[in-house]
Formats: sequence, C-alpha cells, structure tokens
Amino acid sequence: MALTIGVDVGGTKIAAGVVDESGAILARTRVPTPADPQWAVDAIAQAVRDLKEQHPAVTAVGVGAPGFISRDRSTVIFAPNIAWENEPLRGRVEELTGLDAVVENDANCAAWAEFRFGAAAEHEDMVLITVGTGIGGGIVLDGRLHRGRFGVAGEIGHLNMVPDGLLCGCGGKGCWEQYASGRALRRYGREKAAADPVAGKRMLELNDGVAETIRGIHITEAAEAGDPLALEVYDEVADWLGRGMADLAALFDPGVFVLGGGVSDSGRLLLDPVAKAFETYLTGGVHRPRAEVVLASMGSAAGIVGAGDLARTHA
Ligand code: BGC
Ligand code: NA
Ligand code: ZN
Repeated sequence: MALTIGVDVGGTKIAAGVVDESGAILARTRVPTPADPQWAVDAIAQAVRDLKEQHPAVTAVGVGAPGFISRDRSTVIFAPNIAWENEPLRGRVEELTGLDAVVENDANCAAWAEFRFGAAAEHEDMVLITVGTGIGGGIVLDGRLHRGRFGVAGEIGHLNMVPDGLLCGCGGKGCWEQYASGRALRRYGREKAAADPVAGKRMLELNDGVAETIRGIHITEAAEAGDPLALEVYDEVADWLGRGMADLAALFDPGVFVLGGGVSDSGRLLLDPVAKAFETYLTGGVHRPRAEVVLASMGSAAGIVGAGDLARTHA
C-alpha cells in the first residue's frame, strides 16, 4: 500500500504523519514551529526524515501551509499569519528530504481529508471552514478540490465583510477572519467583560479578574457552564460565521458546510448558533434548499491526512 507523509504547518506547531491510502495515520511526530521561517523549513524536513526512517516505503510528502499557495503547489506566495513570502517550500523540502513534495493550503488539506474520509464523505460539493487563529477555507465542487486560476481560491478568511473595518494580517481591512476567528472570540470576550464586569464575573474569575488577557478557554468554560455573557460572545462569532456562510452558499451551493479548526472543538456551543445564523442570512430564504452544517470529524488529523492524500493523488 502506497504511503506518503502529510505535514501540517501551524502557527505554534508542526505536526506530521505517515498516511496510508485509507487515510489512516501509521506514525506521527510534532515539533514546535520555530519563530524564524527559515528554521521552520528545517523543522519540517527533520520531521519528514524521522518519519521516513520509520517507514522507508514512503513515496512523497504533502505540506499543508497556512497561506496563499501557487497553483503549481510549490510556493508559499504569502501567509497572513506566518512570516513567509514567496517561499519556495516545495524545492527546499525536496532538497532536504530527497522525497517528491507538494505544498498545499492548510485548509484545502483539511477539506480534502473531511471530503475523502470524514464528515463530508457522503458529499460531492462541500465547503470546509477552519476557525482558528484565522479563517481558512477549502472548497470541493463535483468531487474536485477547487483551486482557481492562481491556486488561491478558497481564501475565504479575507472576504471583505466590513467596509474599512479592522486591520487584518493580510494588510486589508474588514476581513472576515477579524470578526469570526479564535482571535475574534477572544477579543469579544475581553471587550464584553471589561465593559460589564458584573455580567462578565465568571469569565473574569477564570482569569484572576483581568479582562485584557482573557483567553478562549475561559470563554468556553464559562459558556459551557451556561454563563449568559460568554454565550453572547459565542453568538457574536456565530453570527459573523453565519453571514459569511450565507454568501458562500450563494456562490458555491454546497451540500454541506464542515466547521473545523480549534474553535470548533467547542462542539455544539459553536455549531448550534452558527446553523441558526446561517439559516437567518441565507439569501432566497425559504426558497433555497439548505446545506447541512456539521462539525469536522477528523480533528487535528485532518491537516496531516489531507496533505498526505493530496501528495499521492494529485487531485
Ligand atoms: C490564510 C489562509 C489559511 C487560514 C487558516 C488565513 O489567514 O490566508 O491561507 O488557510 O488563515 O490558517
Ligand atoms: Na484554502
Ligand atoms: Zn485579511
């Protein structure tokens, strides 16, 4: 059975695994992401070499990276949340590992994994939204990953949602990921707790009374305990997500939206209000057949499995 290596490059860690044709991970490794992007390439190569030693039969490497990837799957053109610009990642990884490599967008990898083996396995048309530090997107239409002319289709985190809105890591203003990501969740929590410390009591208590440094886990813990203000924070993120998804439905008409990424680990806390908001904003309202909205099922494995599978299939 042909084996490949999938690498998932995140802002804080690089996770890699040996992936077989059924999407199973046979071996895994992870290292922290070095601050200097130069070293990140070395860290990726080291992880790949370690895995190759355990499974010498591996034939290729897929690297999922959080940025705009060239259509020929070789170059990180730009990455809003990591310091790479025109980084010839494919060539560097091939040089350092001796294996054929492809570079893919991280969310495209996750989408591909959920489409092939996970929550969207029953579908031919799907949109995956990863809600983490930023927002990533992967679009599968008629069973094919949609890359676009330049390879950067599905960069949904940078949809212009708010005219002259908040500054984004991409240099633009008002991008969707400034309003509906893990970072946005944190910001709403901090703002709301600071503005109303009485209502924000629970979130504040979880962070020793300091509003400015409240984190996602505090908000989630409070929301899970039914805290009204923490639930409001989730609703705000969900509302923005639902708005954007309604636009994506108008564009792509998927059968299912799959929500992935760190924030979706909070499960129904996010899923329920998102599904509701999506329904509210869907253009054409009752006249339009409605896509399902589900949580990703592969968790943190999706990036690795998708990258590995895309390295094999050249989908
Ligand atoms: C980047 C995407 C990436 C997403 C999730 C966005 O800011 O533009 O390329 O998929 O973050 O990492
Ligand atoms: Na993408
Ligand atoms: Zn942006």
